Amino acid sequence: MRILLQGDMVAKTTISLIKADIGGYPGHASVHPELIKLAEEKLRDAVNSGLIVDFRVMAAGDDLQLLMGHTKGIDNSEIHELAWKTFEAGTEVAKRLKLYGAGQDMLSDAFSGNVRGMGPGIAELEFTERKGEPLVAFMMDKTEPGAFNLPIYRMFADPFNTAGLIIDPSLHGGFKFEIWDIMEHKRVFMSAPDEMYDILALIGAKSRYVIKRVYPGEGSPLPQDEPVAAVSTEKLYQIAGKYVGKDDPVALVRAQSGLPALGEVLEPFAFPHLVSGWMRGSHNGPIMPVSFANARCTRFDGPPRVIAAGFQISNASLVGPVDLFDDPGFDEAREIAGRVATYMRRHGPFEPHRLPMEDMEYTTLPDVLKKLENRFEPAD
Ligand code: 13P
Ligand code: 13P
Ligand code: MG
Ligand code: MG
Repeated sequence: MRILLQGDMVAKTTISLIKADIGGYPGHASVHPELIKLAEEKLRDAVNSGLIVDFRVMAAGDDLQLLMGHTKGIDNSEIHELAWKTFEAGTEVAKRLKLYGAGQDMLSDAFSGNVRGMGPGIAELEFTERKGEPLVAFMMDKTEPGAFNLPIYRMFADPFNTAGLIIDPSLHGGFKFEIWDIMEHKRVFMSAPDEMYDILALIGAKSRYVIKRVYPGEGSPLPQDEPVAAVSTEKLYQIAGKYVGKDDPVALVRAQSGLPALGEVLEPFAFPHLVSGWMRGSHNGPIMPVSFANARCTRFDGPPRVIAAGFQISNASLVGPVDLFDDPGFDEAREIAGRVATYMRRHGPFEPHRLPMEDMEYTTLPDVLKKLENRFEPAD
């Protein structure tokens, strides 16, 4: 190891989480072990060639997750190409095994410098490592990016969730939220607590306004230009123009020392809130926090699930993971989610279990309506 001299630039660390559904096993339930093995080989090669420092390959439902530690910054073309090539190679394996929907999220034929807008979901954070650097990677299946609005808001802005907002002076400056309008491709920065009513006015409409990043507020001991949380905000149906599966989202969240504590970051998931994207991307249901072993979507292709992988980051190395929802502390949330799943299911094809019409436009429902078009006559 080289000793750093005074005046040396300390490279910032980047953590990139890039995911795609390149084939489900069986149906949309889980990821086949061969895909994980292949991805591990590809990323191992990238460590050996010096492109990345460390990696973990994980799975949430049918989504293959590539978590990488490196020093290349966000939106780096080499890193994105590594992920794209890994998914491409995995798609070949998926085709050979005839996995379900092989290559589902590979919406482009050729890589052009950045995987944004090509199908995979991306959450990336570039930051100066602190003395101790806890980070949680959250991965959801059978839902959409707006599913993170409620938990991220509660972590960084709700004093009933995050005790530190009250009792730790270093958190009193609050946090700044970068919120995207994913229909209009616009964004706005808003500060909590000052603008919390306006923030909630937007992010309560979770199919349109999604929290993209969170930054430390004024007076924070952390650099204000380095994000402390990032969420993937890709919307597959907008990219593909038709329903091709969902944009099952991921998020990276840093914790402690001027940020919410690890337990404050996890606490919002003790409430299994309702999210959209269950069964055929067309239903609302509760999000169930589960262990890695239970990250398989079975009942009615769900219920929607979230896993949490905890790490300490050390010079871009990923020390971990700890399977954070593999804990009896979340049993009650799972039980409630099970009961809410049953309650929602009893509605069958009726809203609000089924999504409202405007969200169904991107599914196969319009084909059914088209068939009935000629049967309609004026009703005065
Ligand atoms: P299929 O028509 O391919 O069975 O797709 C249904 C589905 O699983 C949508 O997510
Ligand atoms: P995925 O988006 O996870 O492939 O799920 C498709 C679906 O809607 C299954 O019912
Ligand atoms: Mg799938
Ligand atoms: Mg999925």
